[in-house]
Amino acid sequence: MKKTYLTHLKNMKRKTIESSFGISGKQGKDGTTFLTVDPSNGHRYAIKLFKNTKSPREIAKEAYMQEMAADYGVAPTVRGVSTSEKFIVMDALKETIVAKAKREKWVSLPPDYKAMLYALCVRLDRAGVVQNDGNPLNLMVDDTGRLYIIDYGFANEISNEMHAKRGSQPNVALTLWDFGRRLKHYKIKNDIQLSILNKYQKNNTFKDETLIAHGEKLLNGVAKPQAKPQANTMPLSVAKSTDKAVVKATSQVSLPMAKLNVKTVIKAKSRRRPTTPPSRTRPSTMHKFGGNSKKISTLKKATFTQHAKPPALTLKERIQMRVDRHNEKKKQSLI
Ligand SMILES: Nc1ncnc2c1ncn2[C@@H]1O[C@H](COP(=O)(O)OP(=O)(O)O)[C@@H](O)[C@H]1O
Ligand SMILES: [Mg+2]
Repeated sequence: MKKTYLTHLKNMKRKTIESSFGISGKQGKDGTTFLTVDPSNGHRYAIKLFKNTKSPREIAKEAYMQEMAADYGVAPTVRGVSTSEKFIVMDALKETIVAKAKREKWVSLPPDYKAMLYALCVRLDRAGVVQNDGNPLNLMVDDTGRLYIIDYGFANEISNEMHAKRGSQPNVALTLWDFGRRLKHYKIKNDIQLSILNKYQKNNTFKDETLIAHGEKLLNGVAKPQAKPQANTMPLSVAKSTDKAVVKATSQVSLPMAKLNVKTVIKAKSRRRPTTPPSRTRPSTMHKFGGNSKKISTLKKATFTQHAKPPALTLKERIQMRVDRHNEKKKQSLI
């Protein structure tokens, strides 16, 4: 049987990858991402080549976390992993949200992107993965402008301890907040983190069903995201809720209480990386992930029929990753 391009990629040596392909974005600290195209069908792949010092265990963990996120349509699909040559092959995306914003001269986060970002964090909580690195360079779009969260280098499985500390929606509490704050560093105004975090802290959860529904529609390709929406491109309810959120967030900033909140948050976050907002003061009631499994399976189908192409990781590869991680955990508990 003829070797597929994907098989060829998965068996490549580090040196060959470096000398054969162009770089996506900038050379990263933790490694470099290369881009390539399958000549037989035009499918585009990104190869995240890690620094040689990154351990096989860390690479397997990152790939596994990304797989879990990809299952929920949050991350680009993982197509292969090499823990010996130290890379992950995944579907390529078009550009970071930072590049898009610069190109399109955004001054604020468009409502469609706010909705997608929020819906992605809700999905990630359901997937049971906390991404932990809300850097806007980890937000990418595909050719249609559909948003994805990449980079699972700091990700972890959501544990009971995490729930106890961060409440029922760790990604809404942490990752979304971090993305929101750090978007400002790129001069992209947004109101997402303040309004949501304040409500989250009060109620131990945050659910804006209208916003989720709108985000889901965009993530599922039912509607195309608008970078600069005209007056009539959004459903009325969404436009209304967005306006309200803007007004609320703006007024919250000028309130002493909110100021206090922001300061506390930033102080807590500046101490270590990945950054974290203050943990909640009340004990968690430990909700499970709002459990709507039917919705998720429809969701997955919609996402994957759209993009379905080469095979993702095989069952054998996934099991191997689990075994490696299990052994590693066992080893650690023996120390
Ligand atoms: N799937 C992808 N398609 C295209 N470019 C990507 C992809 N994944 C990552 N990149 C590019 O590589 C950069 C770094 O990737 P990332 O996974 O965030 O690595 P790091 O762990 O070094 O931060 C991204 O900001 C983006 O420019
Ligand atoms: Mg990154």
